[in-house]
Amino acid sequence: MAASPPPRTFHVKSFGCQMNVYDGERMAELLTARGMTAASERAEADLVVLNTCHIRERATEKVYSDIGRIVKEGQRKDGAAPVIAVAGCVAQAEGAEIMARAPSVRVVVGPQSYHRLPEMVAQAAAGGRAMETDMPAEAKFAALPGRRKVGASAFLTVQEGCDKFCTYCVVPYTRGAELSRPYADLVREAHQLVEGGACEITLLGQNVNAWHGENGRGRPAGLAALMDELALIPELARIRYTTSHPADMDEALIAAHGSNRKLMPFFHLPVQSGSDRVLKAMNRSHTVESYLRLLERVRAVRPDIALSGDFIVGFPGETEAEFEDTLRLIEAVGYAQAFSFMYSARPGTPAAAMDGQVPAAVMEERLQRLQAALQRSSLAFNQASIGKRCTVLVERKGRRDGQWLGKSPWLQSVHFSGEAALGELVEVDLIDAGPNSLSGQLATQQIT
Ligand code: SAH
Ligand code: SF4
Ligand code: F3S
Repeated sequence: MAASPPPRTFHVKSFGCQMNVYDGERMAELLTARGMTAASERAEADLVVLNTCHIRERATEKVYSDIGRIVKEGQRKDGAAPVIAVAGCVAQAEGAEIMARAPSVRVVVGPQSYHRLPEMVAQAAAGGRAMETDMPAEAKFAALPGRRKVGASAFLTVQEGCDKFCTYCVVPYTRGAELSRPYADLVREAHQLVEGGACEITLLGQNVNAWHGENGRGRPAGLAALMDELALIPELARIRYTTSHPADMDEALIAAHGSNRKLMPFFHLPVQSGSDRVLKAMNRSHTVESYLRLLERVRAVRPDIALSGDFIVGFPGETEAEFEDTLRLIEAVGYAQAFSFMYSARPGTPAAAMDGQVPAAVMEERLQRLQAALQRSSLAFNQASIGKRCTVLVERKGRRDGQWLGKSPWLQSVHFSGEAALGELVEVDLIDAGPNSLSGQLATQQIT
């Protein structure tokens, strides 16, 4: 491939989880710090970064179809083709295969190496190809620029990787071992985010509650202690964290839900299945009973806590009766929100080799019933808010003039009309509810 002028504009497209969104933002900041500018559209970018997800088969397929589409759109007005870089979890898992299958991809970079993106892009522009999928510990964050302008609600990755090895999941292989970023670095980044405009920070990790470190006085600190420190930042109004694993919900974190007044009354605690036999086969280290007991303890300190979960239907060997146990669990818990998926066999994971793979048609039918139950649950949760007044963080403009979209403390999406501005916390009277959002009216008397 001939050398081309170094790319000046870039476009980053992130798939998958919030940690990938965070990584995508950091890549954009890194490229900006090196003098590049964000293109308003992908078709105008000299460099296209596909920041990919490997969690399910369909997510992975998207990468190849996206590459195909970019190549087909092909030559831009000036005759140059964009440099295509594949980042994220597919790059980590299938880097060599991508290089072989897609000659138009010039750069492959894994989630632990993207601090090297600018030099790799330069190499590609010089006519070469570059691939980096090592998993060096920690080098990445130190090499990234500081945070500047961010939205009202910002992400902060505190922990990466996973040691849990659920039998269906690729994350331990694509993201590597659990690694906690140092306390002081996180406090510094949180300050930067707040100075850059954030009034809400969501702490992120594949197992965010496995985060541990040492506080400024050299004492061991867990996520609760970190959140207490962040709560001292005056302009920071809201703290959230995701995704947590039931096995890592320690006493201090449960207590924080009652004592940290900036910690929002919402948390995401995936359960996956309501059958103990399936949970065991999944290598989840909890039972239905221990999960429910954990919820009781959190509700004891924070009675209004709202919950979301993740569910998988059709894990190998799942029977109709075991699936119905999951439906019963949903009834018992009352989820405010949830994510649910058909099991997807991932190459190299233990579950992919298990007997009793469930036919697609059965999975589809179960997913429909599960989602109907979850919709009923979230509708009931949202309807219980009608007639109440709640604080909304304004995050986006709505479709029509004077309409806004924001989030309640319980992470409900709230549409409302009235005089407001992005990043403001306003009081909204809630009037109507659907399973995915609420609508309301700006309260006439605002608290400040
Ligand atoms: N670490 C987090 C989330 C990881 S992935 C956790 O443990 O909660 C997000 C969700 O994707 C998982 O909770 C699970 O519900 C789903 N998932 C992971 N692997 C999957 C697979 N092979 N097939 C279907 N869903 C899967
Ligand atoms: Fe995957 Fe399980 Fe780790 Fe979550 S805890 S990332 S589901 S292996
Ligand atoms: Fe996907 Fe990787 Fe996140 S596989 S869900 S982008 S950790």
